[in-house]
Amino acid sequence: MLITFEGIDGCGKSTQIEKLKEYFDNNGVGYSVFREPGGTEISERVRSLLLHDTDDMDAVTELLLFSAARSQLIREKVIPLLEQNEIVILDRFYDSTTAYQGFGRNSSSLSDIHTLNKLASHGTVPDLTFYLKIDPKIATQRTKGTEKDRLESAGDDFFKKVATGYDMLVSTDKRFCVIDADRSPEEIHDEIVTIIEAYQQ
Ligand code: ADP
Ligand code: TYD
Repeated sequence: MLITFEGIDGCGKSTQIEKLKEYFDNNGVGYSVFREPGGTEISERVRSLLLHDTDDMDAVTELLLFSAARSQLIREKVIPLLEQNEIVILDRFYDSTTAYQGFGRNSSSLSDIHTLNKLASHGTVPDLTFYLKIDPKIATQRTKGTEKDRLESAGDDFFKKVATGYDMLVSTDKRFCVIDADRSPEEIHDEIVTIIEAYQQ
């Protein structure tokens, strides 16, 4: 089973993934967690290029690098685990590319991004995608004062466009679960667990 978490920076994904890990641990359920970009040696090397090295990266270069990191992770780690019926949790997947590179950066047409997403994911589709929906202003307040990487420093207008992208995406597939992320971490976690349990029945 593939569970993905999506949302703008500061929406609370990492917090919720930690809570979900605890929940699975307490219930004796096995799982694997990977973050995008990253999760393999090659993908982590691409990550450092994407998030730290340069401010003048071309938008298409960025799109292709996120996709390259993804292809390696999915082929090397995720597909073998899913073939063994394991639970895989991804901190971001190709919906991030649609929202950030497509809507945020306008780096390419949505149809080209869709084709690239399919290629880089080797056809893998999530069973459940939790979109932690939050006002960009609240998310920015949450991350204020923390050290920002290249994309996190992109500014409010950028995140508004990314949020619009997610809002459009969620109506395209029933795998999306829109979660009101402006609540306590416990309330959000309870809703996520309820949805996963219902899905598994
Ligand atoms: P992300 O991984 O989506 O960037 P994090 O889980 O790292 O987000 O959360 C960003 C910041 O917001 C952290 O300081 C975290 O403690 C805080 N935070 C996370 N969830 C909530 C919440 N539900 N309410 C208030 N603050 C939160
Ligand atoms: P990260 O530090 O993992 O942020 P977060 O905790 O919010 O996920 O950095 C990942 C950054 O990369 C984040 O700003 C979103 C961005 N990103 C894209 O622009 N496109 C993508 O396809 C992916 C996977 C991430």
